[in-house]
Amino acid sequence: MKRTIIITGGAGFIGSHVVRLFVNKHPEYKIINLDKLTYAGNLANLKDIEDKPNYKFVKMDICDFEAVYQLMQDEQVDGIIHLAAESHVDRSIKDPFTFAKTNVMGTLSLLQAAKLYWESQPVPYQVAHSSQSTVQCLFYHISTDEVYGALAMNHPEGIPAPHQTIASAHSSQLETHGSLAYGSEFFYETTKYNPHSPYSASKASSDHFVRAYHDTYGMPTIVTNCSNNYGPYQFPEKLIPLFINNIRHRKPLPVYGKGENVRDWLYVEDHARAIDLIFHKGKIAETYNIGGFNEWKNIDLIKVVIKTVDIALGRVALNDEQRALSSSQLTAHSSMPDSAFPDLDLITYVTDRLGHDARYAIDSTKLQKELGWEPSLQFEEGIEKTVRWYLDNQDWMDNVTSGDYQKYYEEMYKPTQS
Ligand code: NAD
Ligand code: DAU
Repeated sequence: MKRTIIITGGAGFIGSHVVRLFVNKHPEYKIINLDKLTYAGNLANLKDIEDKPNYKFVKMDICDFEAVYQLMQDEQVDGIIHLAAESHVDRSIKDPFTFAKTNVMGTLSLLQAAKLYWESQPVPYQVAHSSQSTVQCLFYHISTDEVYGALAMNHPEGIPAPHQTIASAHSSQLETHGSLAYGSEFFYETTKYNPHSPYSASKASSDHFVRAYHDTYGMPTIVTNCSNNYGPYQFPEKLIPLFINNIRHRKPLPVYGKGENVRDWLYVEDHARAIDLIFHKGKIAETYNIGGFNEWKNIDLIKVVIKTVDIALGRVALNDEQRALSSSQLTAHSSMPDSAFPDLDLITYVTDRLGHDARYAIDSTKLQKELGWEPSLQFEEGIEKTVRWYLDNQDWMDNVTSGDYQKYYEEMYKPTQS
């Protein structure tokens, strides 16, 4: 079936994986990547697909209502997958206005442009590409688990996680931290919104606007709330790529507070796969949680990242038996003492993030049961793949860390006066 879909924020981290998947998997669709190219947007993320005939890039600000409305009419757009956002919690603490503008007003501008165009069709919310092909419109909004607030850590030592997937069963076999849960509560689709940071407050607001457009105007909408993503092409202000780059250059690793906050991690391609499935098979007006079934305390995760980088860079001496094991087996089994990894010394505890949420843990069994999705990658394997990608793509890293990045880094991590 012919479709024309705008993917906003397609030059960012998750957006670039979604664009790549859609362009390659759906050659009959026209995929329009609408992105303003902020500091976080990078067309180098899409070099491999930029010449495909079903791909088009449009540099545009989602807040520019007139331009978005015109684009929808010119291209006869029938679907929007909305990822464009300011996405970094630390930046939102310093500059909340930019977050309200992009995440709230930008989403509203997109919704209103879609409403005007889709309601102007002979059958509202259906776009006819030809006499044979009429498509039901969909506004699919990508959101975050952070809108639900923070969960209690009532099992700080960890209990066996109640949810099982093929990937998490593998974690249990390897006896890794990824098979543990640090509390008895989880985020469900029905969990009450309780955002704490300016970032999560702005995302919560945008989620409410999307649902309001369904309830008020009958716009076909879907919202998904996902946990922390990791993988290639993530801007190195976020924990994992920042630390991989610092370890490589033997720079201190700034761990907020005691490093005990818990996040649920999902490999980015698994998120893109879930988005593709939900875009095509999800029920209108529904919410789906997307998560990794994979909780980690920051400090435990950081140790896995350090060990994986040290192994990849040959900074640890391995005996013959160890050399026969994969990096994920070596880090998961704790078969080597911490003293073997020189870069664990880079861990530096710094002042905590303001309002730092203690624990996020998504329950995505609804998506698992209704649409048959689950994560494909065991965590240490995903980390190994990710570390390998950043080490093999040093040009990409050097490129994004030139220019304003150094200024941001110095400002963000300047020593506090005591
Ligand atoms: P990112 O910061 O890597 O990319 C954001 C993209 O949006 C960039 O390409 C940027 O240029 C573009 N953009 C920003 N403002 C824009 C504007 N006004 N107009 C047009 N484009 C604009 O973000 P990400 O980590 O890929 O996150 C993508 C989406 O997924 C966001 O909505 C985020 O809230 C959500 N999300 C992210 C995670 C995560 O772990 N990264 C988890 C759950 C949900
Ligand atoms: O949960 C989904 C969210 O995950 C997304 O909505 C956000 O867009 C995305 O940025 C991410 O938010 P986090 O704040 O969880 O991610 P970040 O990588 O910034 O931090 C992960 C954890 O690591 C968090 O507990 C803070 C801590 N941290 C982070 C940085 C950058 C450190 O200890 N030191 C650091 O330097």
